[in-house]
Amino acid sequence: MYINDYDKNPNEIKAHKFCVAPMLDWTDRHCRYFHRLISQHALLYTEMVTTGALIHGDHQRFLQFNPVENPVAFQLGGSNPRELAVCARMVEDYGYDEVNLNVGCPSDRVQKGRFGACLMKEPELEEERLTAAGRGMILEVTRQTMEDDPGNATVIAPSGETFEVPLAEREPGIFAGSAETQEIGLYQIGNGTLTALAHVGPVNAPEFADTVSTTEVLQPVTEASGGTIRRLETGLTGAVSVPDMVAVRAGAETAGRNWIGLRTTSDSVLRAVSRVPLFAGFLGLALLLLAMGSMWYREGR
Ligand SMILES: Cc1cc2nc3c(=O)[nH]c(=O)nc-3n(C[C@H](O)[C@H](O)[C@H](O)COP(=O)(O)O)c2cc1C
Repeated sequence: MYINDYDKNPNEIKAHKFCVAPMLDWTDRHCRYFHRLISQHALLYTEMVTTGALIHGDHQRFLQFNPVENPVAFQLGGSNPRELAVCARMVEDYGYDEVNLNVGCPSDRVQKGRFGACLMKEPELEEERLTAAGRGMILEVTRQTMEDDPGNATVIAPSGETFEVPLAEREPGIFAGSAETQEIGLYQIGNGTLTALAHVGPVNAPEFADTVSTTEVLQPVTEASGGTIRRLETGLTGAVSVPDMVAVRAGAETAGRNWIGLRTTSDSVLRAVSRVPLFAGFLGLALLLLAMGSMWYREGR
């Protein structure tokens, strides 16, 4: 935010081609005075000062500066809009040229203070937000919004059936509604431009624990066996294309662009085939039994 009339004088930005970056515990007023001796035109930045330090601390210590340091941009760190507005006013009153908002850097102070980019880890702070969750067979929808009435949430059931869930204000800015569902599965919920997904049914059902298809699970097996993993694709004609299966020699490549090789191995070798005439054996046995029978018959007479 430029405090000077930047809109009236867009060329002013040219003076900012060369800047000295804000550096915590370094670019205090003494350091900036020194920098100004080196360059007359560079835009100098203060170190980042948190809104808490200005509002509750010794604000004069952070805000006072020597006019010869100009142009100076004051960098604020904070995530509370009201506090940031109060501090921006204080900065302006002290005659700084610009208020710069720290939108995220890796420093501990920024992470702990939840300033800037690290706020993305806290989506619940988002003004416009739609969430949904399944509790048993009840689908619960919550809408956080600045609007007075977000209307109904539109729900698409796993079968494709669509129904509406009315949202009623539960507390300022939070609207909620729920519906009893009949189907187990993934529901898609929409409200305005926002969408959310929620699973209704048994908790931790394996098919919903990890819904993203991956080849990683089979990877160790294929690597150990020298194999390959292929996804079946729909070709240009719309038909599913399956890779060709080709017999390959042991040690040869086992896969190509459109084929998978089946390796012939020498784990077993067929050297000869010998046949045992089973019938001759049975015939011999029958003749033997016949001979013994006739002997027994003759002896008995
Ligand atoms: C000691 C130190 C303190 C810093 N403090 C801040 C800070 O308070 N605010 C900020 O936006 N960046 C801070 N930075 C980041 C710098 O402003 C700058 O973006 C960073 O050093 C990369 O610039 P370079 O590419 O010119 O080295 C700090 C960097 C250093 C090394």
